Amino acid sequence: MKKLIAILFLSLFPLIGCQNLTDSNEIELKLAHNPTLDHPVHLSLVEFGRLVEEKSGNQINVNIYPNAQLGSEREVLELTQTGAVDVAKVSASALEGFEPDYSIFSLPYVFEDYEEFQEKMNNKEITDKLYLQTEEIGFVGLTYFNAGERHLYTKNREVLQVDDVNGLKVRVQPSETSVNMIEAFGGLPTPMAYGEVYTALQSGVIDAAENNETALVGNNHGEVAKYYMYTGHQIVPDMLVMNAKRLNNLSEEHRKTIHEAAQEATEYHEEVWRKTIAEQTETAKNEMGVKFIEVDKSSFIDAVQPLHKNYAANEQTKEIYQLMKGE
Ligand code: GCU
Repeated sequence: MKKLIAILFLSLFPLIGCQNLTDSNEIELKLAHNPTLDHPVHLSLVEFGRLVEEKSGNQINVNIYPNAQLGSEREVLELTQTGAVDVAKVSASALEGFEPDYSIFSLPYVFEDYEEFQEKMNNKEITDKLYLQTEEIGFVGLTYFNAGERHLYTKNREVLQVDDVNGLKVRVQPSETSVNMIEAFGGLPTPMAYGEVYTALQSGVIDAAENNETALVGNNHGEVAKYYMYTGHQIVPDMLVMNAKRLNNLSEEHRKTIHEAAQEATEYHEEVWRKTIAEQTETAKNEMGVKFIEVDKSSFIDAVQPLHKNYAANEQTKEIYQLMKGE
């Protein structure tokens, strides 16, 4: 039903709720995502739109529908498959339900650190496999955006090592790998869409969640969750995907424009991300009273080793695992 309303909305009122409106452009791309307007990824998507317009000599216009206006990440991906949405920014975790390769990002501690992650994301062998793999289900990847490291945060429990997670109800993204991760930590995983997390925390449906620092300030979770533990259990990027037919039907020049703009927006984003995280960490500490805590990371890493073994042996995931791990 929600999807139907979104499709009607898109076809009847294409200009409501959009940004960057002009009517002289020949091609309009509808871009949907779930971050708020002050989120660094939103700012980098605005830059993407600006670059596309500039590079195409205003022949392509990107209209952004932010803040989950068109639905959850899953719903927006389905709209991108049908072509009702042209471009979507979603977490790589949301893609796991569409293409198993994307589950690699939710496998805890698959990367040593952000540098290793970035090195892998600059390896064309890996990104071609990821980005093109979904062409037959209707969309292709254009680029990724740094979405930081994910850490655990709770309403009222300090976690210093993995045993402290025992029995905690933790919201995870709708991703089987993330469910398995929280189980391996000893917690009780509760998958749900991002938009529902604040209320779930507040009402006690969940005790905890896990995300990068923007959740605390941008999504106000710091109002209800006062302990933020630096578990750094996942580095899950945000992905920019585009309806495959829409992209393939563009001229070669326009396709080049889209790819170049996507790449440049990813580079632009790095600085915006770093700056925002530093600022928002201070705000969470000083204005929301959130306590930032270092944990015994090795206990978390040990707890997920069986997951790595399963992942490396599983027919569906072993190829991407080997590619990522360089084994
Ligand atoms: C990150 C990501 C979002 C995602 C969210 C989540 O914040 O940028 O795209 O929805 O995690 O935990 O669901």
